[in-house]
Amino acid sequence: GHLRLAAGSEAGSGAWGQYRRDCLNAWPVLPAIGHACNDRAMIKTLTFLGLESSCDDTAAAVVRLVDGRAQILSSVVEGQTVLHAAFGGVVPEIAARAHAEKLDLCVELALDQAGVGLSGIDGVAVTAGPGLIGGVLSGVMCAKAIAAARGLPLIGVNHLAGHALTPRLTDGLTFPYLMLLVSGGHCQFLTVRGADDFSRLGGTIDDAPGEAFDKTAKLLGLGQPGGPLVEVAARKGDPRRFAFPRPLLDRPGCDMSFSGLKTALLRARDGLVAAQGGLTEPDRADLCAGFQAAVAAVLAEKSRRAIEVYLAENPDAPAFAVAGGVAANQAIGAALADLCDRAGLRFLAPPLSLCTDNAAMIAWAGIELFQLGRRDDMTLAARPRWPLDQTAPAMLGSGKKGAKA
Ligand code: KG4
Ligand code: ZN
Repeated sequence: GHLRLAAGSEAGSGAWGQYRRDCLNAWPVLPAIGHACNDRAMIKTLTFLGLESSCDDTAAAVVRLVDGRAQILSSVVEGQTVLHAAFGGVVPEIAARAHAEKLDLCVELALDQAGVGLSGIDGVAVTAGPGLIGGVLSGVMCAKAIAAARGLPLIGVNHLAGHALTPRLTDGLTFPYLMLLVSGGHCQFLTVRGADDFSRLGGTIDDAPGEAFDKTAKLLGLGQPGGPLVEVAARKGDPRRFAFPRPLLDRPGCDMSFSGLKTALLRARDGLVAAQGGLTEPDRADLCAGFQAAVAAVLAEKSRRAIEVYLAENPDAPAFAVAGGVAANQAIGAALADLCDRAGLRFLAPPLSLCTDNAAMIAWAGIELFQLGRRDDMTLAARPRWPLDQTAPAMLGSGKKGAKA
């Protein structure tokens, strides 16, 4: 390992002494002896280290809360695209190994870029699921080691909560709000009432849209990850040339399906190949444009319904936020922004680097949960599945990017 965990020579009396010292360092007002370190009223600043390793990005970040506002001091993301390129998808064992190799380097870089040492950190937050179990384990083990060696509080964060709380990190959005979480492994509408209070209004019953984008890219020989490449190709295409289906629009509610879209694309591609012996650039562009238009139309119509349900319950909090890698798609973003405009909702989409997987969102979620009094210990487990809304019925399907929650 490259990370030096040992406390400085002045550290003295073991983990508990270090824990108290770190707490005191974070307190502009020194608590009287006997006061709990987690007395919420006394918190002025909190600085958290976040770790993320649930899929194919190894990430570490330092986020600070100052007077109620978040500051991202650093956010390091080490992608693994090249390692998986030859396999056409994320290989869990390769991912886990790469995370184990890169995590401590990412942590060191994040601390350096933030200009803080471990002694400036008040807590460690780590993605504890859902995701590819080997990668999640790598992160959880790394976080436990840091927390134990430095006597720091440890918080296990749900990866989806990290995405879902991102508009609070970027814009200080207040609860409640409606969230569309749309990524490579997930697609769901959530009413977000608190950092630990989510209800699911609907979601995909099979593939996630990001997965469908990735498969589309694969079928058209565009490379991975597919989302950005399909989006670029679609810009030059005619979305009306191929009539792709709009799955589940004929059914009430906010549930979605994207696997049929992939099959339709495969048929259209094979039809062209059979008729003309291959695909031209314009063919590819038209297929991408048609596919993207279908995804955007489904997301927009299902969002319209989710907004209706949400506003009926929360008429005084008209805000709709998106998060997850697919939220980076400009055509989809524009369709949703337009929808919110017409429905009178504030629309929030995080910047690109905070749409895709990162550790700043994990550090931030850790800060939020810490403020609610959440603490984990060395028994914190890595979870392949971890639904945000424990009361909603389990969702179907299991994508290549890990089990859906
Ligand atoms: O949130 P994320 O980084 O990881 C998951 O938790 O899944 O999302 C990655 C997914 C990939 O499937 C990628 O193809 C998709 O987000 N994506 C996009 C775009 N950028 C990334 N999909 C459509 N358009 C984009 N511009
Ligand atoms: Zn994600």
